[in-house]
Formats: sequence, C-alpha cells, structure tokens
Amino acid sequence: MKGIILAGGAGSRLYPLTQVASKQLQPVYDKPMVYYPLTTLIENGVRELCLISTPHDLPRYRQLLGDGAAWGLSIDYREQPRPGGIAQAFLIADSFIGDSPVVLILGDNIFYGGSEFRQAFADFRKGACIFGCHVHDPERYGVVEFDADGHAISIEEKPRQPKSNYAVPGLYLYDNHVVAVAKALKPSARGELEITDVNVEYLNRGQLRVYRLSRGFAWLDAGTSSSLHEASAFVQTIEKRQGIKIGCPEEAAFLRGFLSLDHLAALTPRMPNCEYREYLNDVVAEARRLAEGR
Ligand code: TTP
Repeated sequence: MKGIILAGGAGSRLYPLTQVASKQLQPVYDKPMVYYPLTTLIENGVRELCLISTPHDLPRYRQLLGDGAAWGLSIDYREQPRPGGIAQAFLIADSFIGDSPVVLILGDNIFYGGSEFRQAFADFRKGACIFGCHVHDPERYGVVEFDADGHAISIEEKPRQPKSNYAVPGLYLYDNHVVAVAKALKPSARGELEITDVNVEYLNRGQLRVYRLSRGFAWLDAGTSSSLHEASAFVQTIEKRQGIKIGCPEEAAFLRGFLSLDHLAALTPRMPNCEYREYLNDVVAEARRLAEGR
C-alpha cells in the first residue's frame, strides 16, 4: 500500500505561527508535527510515500525528510498550489498512486495507542476503510452515524446537528478506484473537493468499512493554538513517564524491519549531541543486548 501525507492547507488558525513555517513543521513537544503521521504510516508497514504541501513549504519538507532512503523509505513530493480540499490529494498524487491501494493521512493528525489501525491495515482488501472516534465536538469534523448493529449508515461533513459523537479522523484507506471517485467529485459550497464526499460514495456503493476506535485510543489534531499545546503536553506526559518516544520515524522504521540495526546505529553520529540522539542510541544498545541474549 502507498501512503500520502497531506501537509498543505492555509494554517490560518495558527496565525502568526504559520507566517514563516507551515503548520505541519511546527513543534509538537520534541519533534516536527509531520514526524507523527509519518511514524503512523511506517508503523503500519507503508514505505512508499508522497508528501503534498504548498509550493512555498515543499522545499522545507525536502530538507527535513529528504528522499527517505536513510530511513529505508522512498518519499516523493508533490505541490498543491492552493488548498482545494483533502480529496484533491488523489488527483495531485495520481501518477504516484499508479495502480496501488493508498492510505491518506493528514499532516496535523496525531494518533496514539489502540490496535485498530494494525487490524484495519491487515484486513484491508478493497473498497474503503475509515474510522470513527468519539469526541465531544463532532460538529467540527465529518460525523458518522451507526445503526444498532454497528454499521455506518450516514456520514455528514461538519453538520450543525451531529447524528452521533463519532468524528472521522484523518486516516483513510482506499482501493485504487479512489482516483476515479476523486476525479468525478464536484467542489462543495466552500469550493473544496471533500473527503467526506469520497467516503459517502463508497458508503453508497456498500464498500465502506468503518472501525470504531476504542477508549484506549488517542486522536489529537494540532490545528489550533490550544490543540497544538495539548498535543505537546500529551506527548511530553507519555514520553516522560514511559521513556518511550511517540512519533520517532527512525525507531519505527527499525522496528518494522525497514532499517537494519547497523543502519539505525549509523544515523546517530550525524546528529548533534541531544536527547533525541541519546534516545536512539539507547534503542540501538537495547536491541544489541537482546540480539546477543545478554
Ligand atoms: P484543516 O486543518 O481543515 O485546514 P488548514 O490546515 O488549512 O488550517 P486552517 O483551517 O487553520 O486554515 O486541514 C486539515 C489537514 O489537511 C491539514 O493537515 C492541512 C491539510 N490540507 C491540505 O493539505 N490541503 C487542503 O486543501 C486542505 C483543505 C487541507
């Protein structure tokens, strides 16, 4: 499965932070925001990636992530000249997707915990697969309504009167038909190609699977000053308590088998003396200890 990280948009709610750096390059505690969705994709076995951002910000992402080879990935880059909607990603990345299935993740969404993503990636064959996460403010998102048997029966984008508290987070899996579905979309009243319209199309075809995320799952979106601050506090709390990093692509690539232990070990001498380097050195030392049965 190929992966798209959508990291464009206006970022207007984070003004003035976003005057000089794009939203998904802002720090979430100890890493750039884009590291978190990137890590989510790596953890789920995606190594062929395409990052979409604005013409202005794209060079910064290239500088940060390069071609991905150092992490055992391949990363392509595509420009979105104007924020034309989330579903526009499939038109922009058409040549990258080719004849593969594809997962799209939003560059400002942070996920932690639960086993539903792993399950969904393992089970995915065709159609579309999205998630429903219980939130207190569903009207800000796409909202999914379930029947008594737990089947999705409707999805509405930012409804005034939500039919449930289940919002659709920014991770979506599709078969290759998604490109044709996106090409047939008409812009919404706000002038965007809506991802909800893609999901409704799959729902109408009887090909949409919606997993309800369990209580142990955390979904944060870091699009406002408050939620950015909360996301940082959340990551700091977990990392400090557990001594394990969230959103560390190098470690995820190693654990997923994209990087050998020697390749992982070779990354840290290039880093400045810092806590992140120490952490990776500890990961390497622990893996060596386990490999040697000490
Ligand atoms: P939003 O947070 O809905 O929009 P935004 O990033 O433009 O921010 P604001 O509303 O404050 O101006 O976008 C969700 C994610 O999708 C975010 O990571 C940006 C990305 N996005 C694009 O890359 N291109 C688009 O056309 C849209 C609509 C969103």
